[in-house]
Amino acid sequence: MMYSEDLGAEIIAAATKINRVTRSLDKAGRIIMATGRGGTGKSTFVALTSRYLKSPLLLLDIDPDQSLGTMLGVDLESAKVKTEAEREVPVKSISDLASDIEEEDAFTELAGSPATVKIPWLLRWYTQYRSEKFDLISLGPKWTEGDYRSANFLFEFIIPAIGENYANIVIDSPAGLEHLNRKVVSRINDLFVIVDPSRKSVTHVERVKKITEQVGITYDRLFLVGNYEFDVESEHYLERTGETYLGKMEYDVDVKQSNLMGKSLLDLPEDSPACLSIKQIMAGAGYEV
Ligand SMILES: Nc1ncnc2c1ncn2[C@@H]1O[C@H](COP(=O)(O)OP(=O)(O)OP(=O)(O)O)[C@@H](O)[C@H]1O
Ligand SMILES: [Mg+2]
Repeated sequence: MMYSEDLGAEIIAAATKINRVTRSLDKAGRIIMATGRGGTGKSTFVALTSRYLKSPLLLLDIDPDQSLGTMLGVDLESAKVKTEAEREVPVKSISDLASDIEEEDAFTELAGSPATVKIPWLLRWYTQYRSEKFDLISLGPKWTEGDYRSANFLFEFIIPAIGENYANIVIDSPAGLEHLNRKVVSRINDLFVIVDPSRKSVTHVERVKKITEQVGITYDRLFLVGNYEFDVESEHYLERTGETYLGKMEYDVDVKQSNLMGKSLLDLPEDSPACLSIKQIMAGAGYEV
């Protein structure tokens, strides 16, 4: 597949214009990101918090693994979306759409309109899985360097283009720091760092702070959340970071089991240990739950 520099330039120019003209980044709902080291429980955290956040709610999965959908009971392989012309088509990841745009398939439908108009429509028609409780968009896997860049360009459009339709936007990150380096999202309201009980977590938090500062990602508040393996001793390590620790996600055998079986975490009972602890964590951050 060819990567077109022109397309990249066109998308960036359009994104800047969308931002400038509408100041839509400012109008977007509250932007929440969960980040952390591998396997700490980021996706579980996002799936469970989604139960307590006000609608309209948009979930963004930037992990190429796309495991968030499964945790929410969504099968993205078979999910369909309805285009404006009432056509039912398989939902696309941002990467799929980026490839279509590069092959110019997607653009023929909207020939003539400028990118600022075309791209938000394409995002709405093809990438937005919709359900009563939430909408879900995933970045999807990228195979080449070119895919990487164009999918990222396109991803940067989502919040400026449709963010203002949502009260809350929650982003599930892949493991590590790379997505912060790539500045996939530039403005965050609440950044939740999910930490495991190891000294490496302290270093991780310090790196998150340094990278966001260096690449110019802004956030209003940073919170630390202990994962299900956390213990009191590890809480002391975190004091060194000087950041607010909200408590831990309780170990919950039903969470483990549901994830193992590919069952939805939305079906867990309200009084399950994981749900109760998530509620407490959210309340600690000042959310109405
Ligand atoms: N509260 C919990 N109780 C029991 N098991 C949990 C809990 N939270 C997470 N787990 C288990 O930990 C594992 C990792 O969870 P999860 O996939 O949410 O982590 P992640 O940080 O999103 O991982 P990745 O870095 O691969 O994206 C899963 O097997 C999950 O079932
Ligand atoms: Mg995950």
